[in-house]
Amino acid sequence: MSKQFDSKKEAALTLKKFYSALGNNTGNTGTPETIDYKSKYNLLLKRFRELEKVFDFHRGLIQNISSGLVTINMQAEITFMNRAALRTFGYEYLGTQGMPVSSLFADRNEAASIVDTVLKQQKMVESKEVHFITKSGEVFPVGFTTSLLKEPEGNQVAGVLFVFKDISDTTNLRHQIERMDRLATLGELSAGIAHEIRNPLAGIKSSAQVLEESFSPGDFRAQLASRIVKEIDRSNELLKRFFNFARPSKPLQDWHNVEMILDGVYLLMAPRFKKKNISFKKDFAESLPQVYVDESQIEQVILNLFLNAVDAMPDGGSISVKTALQNIHDASTDTLKEQKIVVTIADTGRGIPPEKKEKIFNPFYTSKNDGVGLGLSISSRLLEENGGSITVESELGKGAIFSIFLPVTKEIL
Ligand SMILES: Nc1ncnc2c1ncn2[C@@H]1O[C@H](COP(=O)(O)OP(=O)(O)OP(=O)(O)O)[C@@H](O)[C@H]1O
Ligand SMILES: [Mg+2]
Repeated sequence: MSKQFDSKKEAALTLKKFYSALGNNTGNTGTPETIDYKSKYNLLLKRFRELEKVFDFHRGLIQNISSGLVTINMQAEITFMNRAALRTFGYEYLGTQGMPVSSLFADRNEAASIVDTVLKQQKMVESKEVHFITKSGEVFPVGFTTSLLKEPEGNQVAGVLFVFKDISDTTNLRHQIERMDRLATLGELSAGIAHEIRNPLAGIKSSAQVLEESFSPGDFRAQLASRIVKEIDRSNELLKRFFNFARPSKPLQDWHNVEMILDGVYLLMAPRFKKKNISFKKDFAESLPQVYVDESQIEQVILNLFLNAVDAMPDGGSISVKTALQNIHDASTDTLKEQKIVVTIADTGRGIPPEKKEKIFNPFYTSKNDGVGLGLSISSRLLEENGGSITVESELGKGAIFSIFLPVTKEIL
């Protein structure tokens, strides 16, 4: 497309030069022909300027539009990418000419079938969701639509135009909503059950206590009764967690120093780290803004992450905690959208299999014999209530990195 622009502009420029030369050479003769040439030249110059304006207008439109535009020829090679597309993929304009369009797709088989649809069958594709891959290998979801490009003269198809939009934000939001929905349903359910179980448990406990006292301390029946009391206490503890999960108290947000929160939780965990042969490293960024959160809820989140990291390293290892300020840009306009504090907690444990990465945030998903599977779902819920979020990266056998994002402004909620 840009080539077409350029060649037309070039032709117009040559014409301009030609007439300009003609005008200068004949300017002094004063013959009627000269006057005719001059008026023709002026008319052409005017037309040229009008055309130039139209070119510039269209070029500006294409380059400044926030959607990504990619055109390909009949050989499925890229002929043009606009600025938004280049920025999204991390390519330079010149490097993209002639590149196969399939290299933009994360899944090459899917790319082949799309190329077949748009080029061979010449069918349009509308609002299709696929994954693209950037130059540096980052995969991101997009929604795209295609249309056929016709030769300027005649009706022959010259290629295809892809118009796409990065839908990472929408996709994340959709996943979050699905997760919240599941949590809410489960929350209501467990609140009801927990409530119903608590009352009879209280009755069993007091009866068992009476029994325990009615036998002499060494009697095996007293020991059995005491065991009943202990097991009931354990169940009550579990029910308390259900309640927390079902109805987390509304966050009492205020300004807090994120380092102090982390140091506080570390102090609690330090004896356990030592016992399990786990070293602890911290790398806190300087002069970070304060976070606007419920301190005890964020402490609970960090505690859950530390406990999981310890569980993932039965033979010891290390936990590294980092803090940083993250500037979040709007992908299409490249302007600063918001700031968050990101706390990353990395361990050197067994890691998480890729197919389990989404599941670990689901309530009751656990891979542990003695796990309940609520730690991460409660954490993700608490973070959402505080205007934050959580993500995970992991390589099996090498460890896991959990990142939590905390708000530094009040407005986000
Ligand atoms: N740092 C980690 N390394 C490896 N796997 C992890 C890590 N953190 C969580 N997981 C996986 O995610 C699962 C869910 O974690 P979650 O904290 O929700 O529940 P849990 O630890 O199993 O039980 P609990 O309710 O007692 O916390 C874990 O069972 C484990 O398989
Ligand atoms: Mg846990």
